[in-house]
Amino acid sequence: MKSSLKKIDSCNISLLKNIKLHENQEQYFSDGEVFEKYADNPKKYLIGMFGEEEIIGCFYLDFEENNLDQYFSNKSLVVLKGLSIRHNFQGKGIGKLAILEFLDTVPNLHFNKKIEIIVLSVNCKNIAAQRLYKSAGFIDTHEIYYGGKAGPQHVYYINVS
Ligand SMILES: CC(C)(COP(=O)(O)OP(=O)(O)OC[C@H]1O[C@@H](n2cnc3c(N)ncnc32)[C@H](O)[C@@H]1OP(=O)(O)O)[C@@H](O)C(=O)NCCC(=O)NCCS
Repeated sequence: MKSSLKKIDSCNISLLKNIKLHENQEQYFSDGEVFEKYADNPKKYLIGMFGEEEIIGCFYLDFEENNLDQYFSNKSLVVLKGLSIRHNFQGKGIGKLAILEFLDTVPNLHFNKKIEIIVLSVNCKNIAAQRLYKSAGFIDTHEIYYGGKAGPQHVYYINVS
C-alpha cells in the first residue's frame, strides 16, 4: 500500500494527533500530538503520509537540534526524526515506500541550505525501523549514540547530493 506525501503546516497539523503507536513503541517515539508544538517552526520540516481519506503517518527533518554532527565532520546535514506509522497501518510496506519516495523528491525540495546527507539515529532494539532504513538505502556508520531517551542508538546516513 502506498501513501501520498504532503507537507504539514499550521493548517493541517492538528491531523497528527490521529497518529497513535502501539503502547510498547512509545519508548521509540511519541504519538503524533507531540508535533503540534512545531507548527510554523521553519526549522522543523514536517511531512505527512496520507491514504485516500486519512493521515497514516509522519516524519520530519530537523534543521535545529542536532546531536549527530559529531559523527559527520564537514558535511552539510539534516536529521530525519519522528518516523511514525499509525499502529493499524504498520507492517504493510507504507513506511518504507514513503521514505523511498521522499528520498526521490529531496533534490527538488528547496531548503535554506544545501543538504549533502540525511542522518538519523535509531534505537538498537528497534529492529523494524533498522530494517526499514537499511532497505531504503541508509548506511550504518557503526557509531553508537548514547543520548537516546530509550537507550543506545545506531547512527545511519544517506547521501542525497
Ligand atoms: C518503524 C516503523 C516506522 C516501520 O514502518 P512500517 O510501515 O510498519 O514498515 P514497513 O512495513 O514499510 O517495513 C519496512 C521493513 O521493516 C520490516 N518490519 C516491519 N515491521 C517489523 C517488525 N515488527 N519486526 C521486524 N521487522 C519489521 C519489514 O519486513 C520491512 O523489511 P524489508 O524491507 O527488509 O522487507 C513503524 O513500525 C513505527 O511507526 N514504529 C513506531 C515508531 C518508531 O519506532 N519509529 C522509528 C523511530 S527511529
